[in-house]
Amino acid sequence: MSVDLSAQIANMSVKNLFLNASGIHCQTEQELDELMNEPVSGAMVTKSMTPKSRFGNPLPRYYRLANGSINSMGLPNQGFDYYMDYLKNHDQKKPIIVSVAGMSKEEDLEMLHQLQDNDDYQGLTELNLSCPNVIGKPQMAYDFEAADDLLHEVFSFYKKPLGIKLPPYFDLVHFDMIAEVLNKYPLSHVNTINSVGNGLWIDTNSETVVLKPKGGFGGVGGSMVLPTALANVRGLRQRLNDDIKIIGTGGVTNGRDAFAHILCGAEMVSIGTQLYEEGLQTFERVTRELTDIMEAKGYTSLGDFRGKLKVIED
Ligand code: SIN
Repeated sequence: MSVDLSAQIANMSVKNLFLNASGIHCQTEQELDELMNEPVSGAMVTKSMTPKSRFGNPLPRYYRLANGSINSMGLPNQGFDYYMDYLKNHDQKKPIIVSVAGMSKEEDLEMLHQLQDNDDYQGLTELNLSCPNVIGKPQMAYDFEAADDLLHEVFSFYKKPLGIKLPPYFDLVHFDMIAEVLNKYPLSHVNTINSVGNGLWIDTNSETVVLKPKGGFGGVGGSMVLPTALANVRGLRQRLNDDIKIIGTGGVTNGRDAFAHILCGAEMVSIGTQLYEEGLQTFERVTRELTDIMEAKGYTSLGDFRGKLKVIED
């Protein structure tokens, strides 16, 4: 039996639902080329870009944990023009989502205006409102009013497919509040979750934090955040308009984790920490594992089980 792993978000159709999480293997031309030539994943997303290139936070800024990772990268990227040149000058064997993360509302608007005016670019853009690691810059998606104001301004001129990268929410009231904001706008998708912001890990031998920036505070990812990621995919899928698709991100290390994201309602699934640690062959393995699960259950397409999570009745 063969299974269909295709998915669709706005004008982007993919044969395989997997992509990298933004920040993983997508900063430089070489990394982007390697992702582009990776034969299994269906799409890719750039590192979140700022108008000008940034080195990001001081090192060390990534640390592997037993069941995940903690990072405080601080949006290192080559700058908006670098990625626009990449899009212009490279054959797109798979769709590229452009991730933008300005240091201010003005920078977000500046990049989105340029994308709107760029006739060569008709693909998906993702506005990252959730990076926890830029010193002095709060995660805007935790400020519902500010996010609403920004989206109101964005959609007054932005007419191409646009999604948002969200931080994790931890209270069902906050799911209600962000969904109420997002449902006002013609978003192509939300990508949930970014890392769980401002965790802390300590090397108890040296009695020292493991990251240099922000006194050691950083975003937590990897398998330990899977329950939070599933809750956010599920909680938002239950609340968002049907035409706002969800990219499930967070805690995916194998096909079973991806299957769970889809059961919660994910259209596509992105992989972060595991991809960083294992390399690009992750996509082939996780795809094979997901396919095996689907075949064993008699499912032939993602739609057979997407969003069909069961709850325990009385
Ligand atoms: C970073 O560059 O600090 C991570 C990106 C993000 O969390 O959005």
